[in-house]
Amino acid sequence: MQYQSKAAIRPLVAALVLALASTAAVQAQDAKPADAKSADAKPADAALANQLDPNAADKDAKLLDKYQAVKVEDGKYFDKDGAPTYHITNDGKKFDWYAYSGYRRYHAECHVCHGPDAMGSTYAPALKDSLKRISYEEFIGIIAGGKQDISASGTNVMPAFGDNKNVMCYADDLYTYLKARASGAMPRVRPTDKEEKPEAAKKAEKECLGG
Ligand code: HEC
Repeated sequence: MQYQSKAAIRPLVAALVLALASTAAVQAQDAKPADAKSADAKPADAALANQLDPNAADKDAKLLDKYQAVKVEDGKYFDKDGAPTYHITNDGKKFDWYAYSGYRRYHAECHVCHGPDAMGSTYAPALKDSLKRISYEEFIGIIAGGKQDISASGTNVMPAFGDNKNVMCYADDLYTYLKARASGAMPRVRPTDKEEKPEAAKKAEKECLGG
């Protein structure tokens, strides 16, 4: 009786072991694609990338191409239209000095009206969208001379910063940062890594602030 029941159980156990083994095999197979995707990124890196790029979907392929740096002079990058632009290395983590500096200047001088990370507010437009169409010359003209939409209620005014050295001496920095936001190259996160401040930037800053 005892022997019989053991014998009866044995095939069951074997079947169970087989079933478990095949489930594990299926699970291993299922896990493969995910593992393969992050093959070159350690799990911690992948988590960090997600954290750094919460709006990866905002990336604009056309603008990423248009605003791509094709030339560098003394640590300052230019796109194919000859306008200042951003440059990112190290898997999208390391920004050029001007984009980084622009991030800081923006959050000192512009964010009160235009919202954090150039996302806009009820008072002023989202510059991450404006910079999809505004040229370098237009941008400099607007921040120097201001802007008032006459078709609106007339109460929302973009002040003229022409006399404000804390803005005008960093106009290219602001423009570079906002371009990176417009194309989606820079996520809504403070840049953690940056290139060294170029000697040319130090010199230009000194002359602009002092002159
Ligand atoms: C006191 C609030 C205020 C501040 C501070 C401010 N802006 Fe503005 N800005 C506005 C308003 C309001 C408009 C929209 C004006 C209009 O209706 O034409 C505007 C418009 C603009 C535009 C044109 C946008 C478009 O889509 O046409 C640019 C570019 C701009 N601002 C850049 C800046 C930058 C760069 C800074 C920081 C140096 C800044 N602004 C600081 C209020 C502000």
